[in-house]
Amino acid sequence: MAYSSLVLYYLSQRRVPGRSFRHFFFIPTSLALVTSLLILFYISTTSNLFTHHHPNPKTPLQINSSSSSSTFSFTILRHKTSSTPFAIEAPLTEDGGGQRIESQRSLGPQLGSDGSHVNNNEVFHDRHIFLEDYKEMKRSFKIYVYPHRQDDSFANALLPVDSEPGGNYASESFFKKVLMKSRFITNDPTKADLFFLPFSIARLRHDPRVGVGGIQDFIRDYIFNVSQKYQYWNRTGGADHFYVACHSIGRSAMEKASEVKFNAIQVVCSSSYFLPGYIPHKDACLPQIWPRKEEPHDLLSSNRTKLAFFAGGINSPVREKLLQVWRNDSEIFAHFGRLTTPYADELLGSKFCLHVKGFEVNTARVADSLYYGCVPVIIANYYDLPFADILNWKSFSVIVATLDIPLLKKILKGISSEEYTRLQSNVLKVRKHFQWHLSPIDYDAFYMVMYELWLRRSFSTVTSSNF
Ligand SMILES: *[C@@H]1O[C@H](CO)[C@@H](O)[C@H](O)[C@H]1NC(C)=O
Ligand SMILES: *[C@@H]1O[C@H](CO)[C@@H](O)[C@H](O)[C@H]1NC(C)=O
Ligand SMILES: *[C@@H]1O[C@H](CO)[C@@H](O)[C@H](O)[C@H]1NC(C)=O
Ligand SMILES: *[C@@H]1O[C@H](CO)[C@@H](O)[C@H](O)[C@H]1NC(C)=O
Ligand SMILES: *[C@@H]1O[C@H](CO)[C@@H](O)[C@H](O)[C@H]1NC(C)=O
Repeated sequence: MAYSSLVLYYLSQRRVPGRSFRHFFFIPTSLALVTSLLILFYISTTSNLFTHHHPNPKTPLQINSSSSSSTFSFTILRHKTSSTPFAIEAPLTEDGGGQRIESQRSLGPQLGSDGSHVNNNEVFHDRHIFLEDYKEMKRSFKIYVYPHRQDDSFANALLPVDSEPGGNYASESFFKKVLMKSRFITNDPTKADLFFLPFSIARLRHDPRVGVGGIQDFIRDYIFNVSQKYQYWNRTGGADHFYVACHSIGRSAMEKASEVKFNAIQVVCSSSYFLPGYIPHKDACLPQIWPRKEEPHDLLSSNRTKLAFFAGGINSPVREKLLQVWRNDSEIFAHFGRLTTPYADELLGSKFCLHVKGFEVNTARVADSLYYGCVPVIIANYYDLPFADILNWKSFSVIVATLDIPLLKKILKGISSEEYTRLQSNVLKVRKHFQWHLSPIDYDAFYMVMYELWLRRSFSTVTSSNF
């Protein structure tokens, strides 16, 4: 607006020689021109039509780095992924404001923006680059973990758990347990690509000395201790450090440790573009996986008679909307409250399984759905989906904008049986990436998270000898 007042000022000050009709003509025309320019400017700053992907300032894009080929392929991968699912997935705000243009594009997973078919059949953005770079990661990636002894007073939160992790937030404990026994660990910090901060948010939450109210102070003190005792924190302000957390309480845990929030790599389940504490591309999504024990067979030939299934509590406006629109439907089964049939049977008996944003964008439902061979339908705007750097989500899921909940049946029924078969066979291909194993298996959740970290490793540590 400052610009327009300047123009007005200029116009009012300017002595236009000549007769008054020239004033009469000139001023309104100029005002109209300026107004049009301002309108265009406003549209270009608010509309997705003009949106370009801004390169992430944290992303190390130096192609000239010492670790030649892997760095280069990383750069390509970033370019490839930067335009993928999210502009399409998250066009709308919860309160219904937003652009219809984008939401229309979420109709059906295989329509391009011009309505033509695009090749979404490949589950990787670039299979070749991924496989090559993954090999390099397994060969050379090194992590240093700040050491803690068994008799440390916070050993319960800093060391891996003894038992096999289970339940809704298992991912956090599983990752640490597997990492600590893996070949990625180095005891020589000068060889480390990244440093792991081993605190467990889920365990601190239950520790009576800390609790929900004390987590922020604990993290601040922990970082202070680490930065006093070791030189590695100070030399990058934490940029080559990471932590892993699945419980949503973790999203406010770093409030008193801003360097962790702004510099370190946060690997978290509640990975929402909408949360100020989560920085896409710098941070990474940890898949929320509830480890399931029974191995379902015949995932392909399972009798999927229901169109879509959802079960869960009503703890968000999105779920309220789903309930309001679909609660009595004969094809979309939305259960709110206690499920009377076994959960696994429902996932095995439905073509599509709904992941609907609740209190958080993340739940274990995406992984459950994949585990039981059901095509996930993601209704969670702003969800930075797990492994989105690597996997082409449109090849094995349907992403529906919150505002399109009333169109859900139309969208799902619009998917032909060939398209469904393709989506489902891709579900079976990506299924293994969403499972934890105590002894990790290639391409399982552990290695995939490691690969996300590898993409975010810091190149500067290699050369920063002047600290
Ligand atoms: C690439 O590295 C070489 C040798 O380290 C250096 O001379 C050159 O200036 C670098 N180029 C760029 C674009 O950074
Ligand atoms: C930090 O160090 C002090 C002194 O060694 C210790 O008492 C405290 O428990 C440590 N705090 C954390 C969070 O590591
Ligand atoms: C790191 O920086 C802090 C704050 O400037 C300082 O107190 C601390 O001594 C430094 N740590 C090391 C290991 O030098
Ligand atoms: C699939 O389930 C429906 C209803 O539950 C049943 O009528 C049908 O016979 C089943 N089909 C097969 C092949 O099992
Ligand atoms: C669903 O059924 C209930 C009770 O039968 C009824 O009150 C409600 O209006 C129905 N809702 C819709 C969306 O049809």
